[in-house]
Amino acid sequence: MNHIDRPHYPLFNEADSAEIVNARIGPNVASRTRQVAEAVVRHLHAAVKEIQPSHEEWLAAIQFLTDTGHMCTDWRQEFILLSDVLGVSMLVDAINHRRPDGATENTILGPFFVDGISVSTHGTNICHDGKGEPLVLRGRVIDIHGEPVKDAIIDVWQTNDDGFYDVQQKGVQPDGNLRGKFETDSEGKYWFRTVKPRDYPIPDDGPVGRMLRTLGRHPNRAAHIHFIVQASGYETVITHIFAPDCPYLAEDTVFGVKESLIGNFELTDNEKEAASLGFPSPFWSVRQDFVLKPSD
Ligand code: BEZ
Ligand code: FE
Repeated sequence: MNHIDRPHYPLFNEADSAEIVNARIGPNVASRTRQVAEAVVRHLHAAVKEIQPSHEEWLAAIQFLTDTGHMCTDWRQEFILLSDVLGVSMLVDAINHRRPDGATENTILGPFFVDGISVSTHGTNICHDGKGEPLVLRGRVIDIHGEPVKDAIIDVWQTNDDGFYDVQQKGVQPDGNLRGKFETDSEGKYWFRTVKPRDYPIPDDGPVGRMLRTLGRHPNRAAHIHFIVQASGYETVITHIFAPDCPYLAEDTVFGVKESLIGNFELTDNEKEAASLGFPSPFWSVRQDFVLKPSD
């Protein structure tokens, strides 16, 4: 009999399945890659051992992932949506943005940010379709010692009062509706006019929406306005302000709500101020400061 010098990998058995697979990882693999691969295999095998799937169930899982991939296009990322509704996007963000007390917290970015909007003058009304309840938002960007941060750039975007972003309704909403960019002044101040945000469903016409329905979950996001706040020398903040009276605050479908991000919305009945803003009275008034942490 010919002697063939085979490596001594253990043959497959159910009990040691994860260790057997991980033993095949080569000796020259980068340690981070090894750590990630080993953990994924270990947890995947543990889940399969707990679930004990039939072949049909396993194939259904493969079909779900296949459908999720097929749903992805340049403008629709169904895998990120899956990560969002499973709470993984918020977990990754929490791990990567542990901030000191008082610094503005991050939340989910979502798929509807548009880069490259030009800077508007303070006070601009970003609502161009005339729908919704008028709202004025005023505040400052400051550092963790309360000092103003001038020349900070604030990107803002939200849905219209029908619950859609402009990019979801091209030709229906005016381009750039409810998007803006503002630069803080020498006192760190900014202000603009918009409308009160409303709750809306995430895109749920794909496999992620099907999964939510199967799990008895709704697709709704709590009413919010998105912000990205950037300033040189500071960690960029990707965040929201949530409307305090929204019924979905405690059950945002992507787990984006944090107590500190629930805004202070005041219904203001003041004819004179309303007239100066070009609003009817009453109107909504929100004061929101953003507190930045120095970048490492
Ligand atoms: C959003 O807030 O725009 C959003 C976040 C996560 C998934 C879908 C939409
Ligand atoms: Fe949103």
